[in-house]
Parts: sequence; structure tokens; C-alpha cells
Amino acid sequence: MVQAPSAPTQNAVSLRGDYTEAKADYTVAQDYSRYTVEDQAIWRTLFARQMPLIERYGTPDVAQGIEALNARSDRIPDFELVNQSLHNLTGWRIVAVPGLIPEQHFYAHLASKRFPVSVWMRKRNELDYLQEPDLFHDFFGHVPLLTNPTFARFMQAYGEAGPKADSHDATKMLARLYWYTVEFGLIQTPVGLRAYGAGILSSKGETVFSVDSLVPNRIGFDLVRVMRTNYLIDDFQKTYFVLDSFEQLFHAGYDTDFAPIYDRYADEPGYAPDQVLPSDRVITKGSHLR
Ligand SMILES: [Fe+2]
Repeated sequence: MVQAPSAPTQNAVSLRGDYTEAKADYTVAQDYSRYTVEDQAIWRTLFARQMPLIERYGTPDVAQGIEALNARSDRIPDFELVNQSLHNLTGWRIVAVPGLIPEQHFYAHLASKRFPVSVWMRKRNELDYLQEPDLFHDFFGHVPLLTNPTFARFMQAYGEAGPKADSHDATKMLARLYWYTVEFGLIQTPVGLRAYGAGILSSKGETVFSVDSLVPNRIGFDLVRVMRTNYLIDDFQKTYFVLDSFEQLFHAGYDTDFAPIYDRYADEPGYAPDQVLPSDRVITKGSHLR
């Protein structure tokens, strides 16, 4: 039996996943028979209300990815079936996990082109918010973009970067990069400013807020700036960083030696989540009145 990690929230929560059956790499069987009629109904509810928002606010790659994976509105995905499509497209697979897993294991999965997806579904009273990622967040938020070869290659580079961050005591800086891109990133697309981060795309409220609201800052992506910026765990973000393209993200993650950045900044306190610097490429300055 493996040890359950702690949840990344400001409030103490105990993780609800069952870690008793997890292997050494924290994977479990999906066991499709576990899903109740209510679980399937919650999936349908979340999918039906989020899909129109994805089409309006998400980068078109996301809707294309959902279609390419044959993800269905009426049924929780069967991971094996998803893997048949996903592996053909980018060489990635999803693996079932009980919930959050320790970061070293998370890095190792990404470096091997495996994305860990929690097996359990949230309850009906948690449609809008929950403290740890469930199947809907992990699958709907993260997996469609793994069909995009450039984004998928960045994810692999991110996993490969994990051990170096560990050895420089800089996992916090690497985690900020993940947070402001993979979870809460925005991107300029031919159809306008759109969201691609999973934390946004799996949240009805933040999908609209991140793109349309006058409240948050939107600042052009800069690797070091992002790695030096603290983030909010339990509220909508005060700042979103905006990519010009996934190539920009891939090159930042793949071509950069993070070691000098860690050595210079790892011991410094981060910028506040709502801070705007003179050197920022400001796209919209927020009003912070929420
Ligand atoms: Fe996530």
C-alpha cells in the first residue's frame, strides 16, 4: 500500500481516493463497474453544461481533442478506449490513479507520456467546486490537449524537468509554471483570446471569468516571470498569463536550462498573485474588485 499525498489546498483536507490498491507507481485499475447511475448522471450534467462554454471560450484544440478521443457526453470515458485513440495521435496514454499522487511519481509518469487521471467522480453538491481533482477535472480539463503534439511534448518536457527542480529545492518554481500554464493558461488564437488550462476548462465560472471579466490581469507569458509568481489555490486567479502559441510554451520548457533560474530565484519570495511589474507585457490590467 502506498502513502496518500497531501492535498494542495490552504484548508486541511483528507484525500478521498482509495490508495489501498495502488501499485508502487500509484496506478490502479479504472474498474468501470464502480461507476453508479448517479456518477454517470453527474458526468452528463458537467459535460452538457461545459461543452458550449468550451466552444465559446476554449482554444479550438480542446473541442477538437474531445472529438478525436471520442469522449462522449452521455458516458464516463473508458480509459482503455481513450488510449487507443490518444496513443495513435501523440504516443500518450492515460493511467488511472486514486487521486493526487506525490510529485516525483507525477513527474515520472509525464516524462513517460502517461497522464494520471483520478478514477472517482465528484458529488452533485460539488458541481462548481471541489478541493482535489476528480475524473471530470483530470479528464475533461487535461486530456483533450494531449492530442496536440506540441502541447503534449511540453508536458513530457515538464515531467523530465522534475528531478532537476527537486535537486535545486525549486519544486515550488516548477509548480508555478504548471499552475499558470497547464492549469490556468490563456492563449491567443486566430479566433481571439481563449483558455487552455484545465483548472479553467473544468470550471463553469472560471471559464467565463478568465476570458471575459475585467477583474483579473492578463499578462504575456514570460517563463521566469511565471516561475517567480505565487498563485491562489482556492479562488479565481488574479492574473492569467497569455501564450502566443503552444510552440512558445514548448520552447520555454524544452530549450531552457532551468538550473540558473532556480539558483538565482528559488530562495526569493514570489511576486504577489495580483502584482503587475514595469517589465510585464500587459494585455489587460485588472480592476481586482471581485
Ligand atoms: Fe489539474
